Amino acid sequence: MRRVFFFLGKGGVGKTTSAASLALTLAEGGRSVFWVSIDPAHNLWDVLGMESTSETRQVVEHLWAQEVDLEVYLHRFLKETTQKMKDLYRHLQIVNLEGMLDVIRYSPGMEESAILYALREILEAQEDKEYIVIDTPPTGLTLKIFSLPFSTLIWIDQLRKWRRKIIDRRSIVASIKGKGALGEGITGDLKEDRIYRELEIQGEQARFLVQLLRNGDLVRNVLVLNQDRLSLMESKRIKAFLGKMDIPLHLVLLNKFGLVDEEEEAILREFPFLPLRRLPYLGSYLDRDDLLSLGKSWVEEVA
Ligand SMILES: Nc1ncnc2c1ncn2[C@@H]1O[C@H](COP(=O)(O)OP(=O)(O)OP(=O)(O)O)[C@@H](O)[C@H]1O
Ligand SMILES: [Mg+2]
Repeated sequence: MRRVFFFLGKGGVGKTTSAASLALTLAEGGRSVFWVSIDPAHNLWDVLGMESTSETRQVVEHLWAQEVDLEVYLHRFLKETTQKMKDLYRHLQIVNLEGMLDVIRYSPGMEESAILYALREILEAQEDKEYIVIDTPPTGLTLKIFSLPFSTLIWIDQLRKWRRKIIDRRSIVASIKGKGALGEGITGDLKEDRIYRELEIQGEQARFLVQLLRNGDLVRNVLVLNQDRLSLMESKRIKAFLGKMDIPLHLVLLNKFGLVDEEEEAILREFPFLPLRRLPYLGSYLDRDDLLSLGKSWVEEVA
């Protein structure tokens, strides 16, 4: 069974460490694994003690890893989108989209869109891997990435409604004045309308991502927290967010257990129906054996 893992949690709680421990443990068990970081502040190679690269590199037998170069994906996403806009609006030569790229790239939602674009490509390109382990950024950005396909779906539905109204009006004009009255390249038939078709494609892509995130057999969401109040509070918000979106949560990792002796009761109370594993605090530098020993204690719960 193929699986995709996401790690959610406050900054510094141990998401990358947990992702590394899972990836190494699965690979040691002979499973093929692709470990990919989509955190703009990558540190995947640092954790392994290897030199940074944006190339895909084999780490050990059965394990490949990559830090996604988000600038590259953002650039490709923007180029593809502007090309599509130019094709669709050929008859309206009023906007110089290329000249606006530098502004568009800093618009809200662009980073999340580029990350999702990268994820879709990676899932396709790594189809031969049994396990995809995704090292995610801290909560704020991850939740924005997760919510993007949901909000896109709402927008697309609305835009399709408006588009249908426009085409309806056009078809009325065409039936009174004849097709020629609409002008070249302008249709009054929904089936021929390229913009409506494009909205359908975008809607399908967003729906695919929503279904993927909700597919608990394929996607495993692991919540990582420490024994402190702030990481517990943030974890509660993550749990509530996932619940609202109907995205399942599979496992809670109480990491750096024993480092501080607080909040354990409150944490147990908060996640009564989920498996919870305590991962001990293992000192200041974790080598691969440490990562493997952490991974072994929980991998079977989600693999
Ligand atoms: N069980 C552990 N024992 C000892 N040190 C740990 C443990 N888990 C994580 N650490 C250390 O805590 C620090 C933060 O861990 P890590 O980078 O995995 O967190 P993160 O959640 O990925 O952070 P960010 O949100 O910044 O990406 C690192 O120095 C890591 O080595
Ligand atoms: Mg990290």
